[in-house]
Amino acid sequence: MKYLYVANWKMNMSFEKSITFCAQNYNRLISLSATADIVICPSFIALKSIIEIFKNSIIAIGAQNCSQYAIGPYTGEIAAQSLKEIGVAYCIVGHSERRIHYGETSEVIAKKVVLLCENNIQPIICIGETEMECNQQKIFTVLTQQIEQCIKIIHNMPCCANRVIIAYEPVWSIGTGIILKQEQLEKIFTWLAELLYAQLPNYSIQLLYGGSVSSINVSQLKTIRQIDGFLVGGASLNFESFSKIITQ
Ligand code: PGA
Repeated sequence: MKYLYVANWKMNMSFEKSITFCAQNYNRLISLSATADIVICPSFIALKSIIEIFKNSIIAIGAQNCSQYAIGPYTGEIAAQSLKEIGVAYCIVGHSERRIHYGETSEVIAKKVVLLCENNIQPIICIGETEMECNQQKIFTVLTQQIEQCIKIIHNMPCCANRVIIAYEPVWSIGTGIILKQEQLEKIFTWLAELLYAQLPNYSIQLLYGGSVSSINVSQLKTIRQIDGFLVGGASLNFESFSKIITQ
């Protein structure tokens, strides 16, 4: 299986910058996609234009969020159905920035997963502990709590060609340059893979690592057998650094 690289641009790229990035690097992104699966997640407002740019390619476009509701009076929200209608293929859910700044609970995230599955959009489900939770040896408890409802849902409503994508992102690694020790990461990914293979035996499972991924640390991260790809924030904003991550 090819590695999956998800560029999470967050709110760091303006509409114009997002379009310019895609137009300027179109050919180079297409070449990279020969050996890697690439998903670009711009802000909502740039989705449709970027889908148009990549419409005849295998570069996929993802949203960074969606509403927990299907339709109705939810000012400012975007429904999974609308994302589907414009051709969005993936959607990040449960990112720690949404959990922390917008109070999203695992229940809310599970509702989003249901709507995404109903609309055949592949959820990229993010989980990760804080530094305090890590110091308190609560990593496995926290990750279990964050993921268990999503597992139940996916188990009960097969979706997205039976593919599950989970991104493990330690909160304290995001944007900080801090990466957990190799043995710690190996232990967590082994645990995660065993849990998911046991609970979702009929699924193709892809585990991503996220948090300060860079061209400097990615080769080491690629030695961890269970890692199938990367969720890249800061380093995906610059084509050269994103491209080096893919080609390392
Ligand atoms: P980072 O962000 O690569 O800038 O640490 C990753 C993420 O938040 O998905």
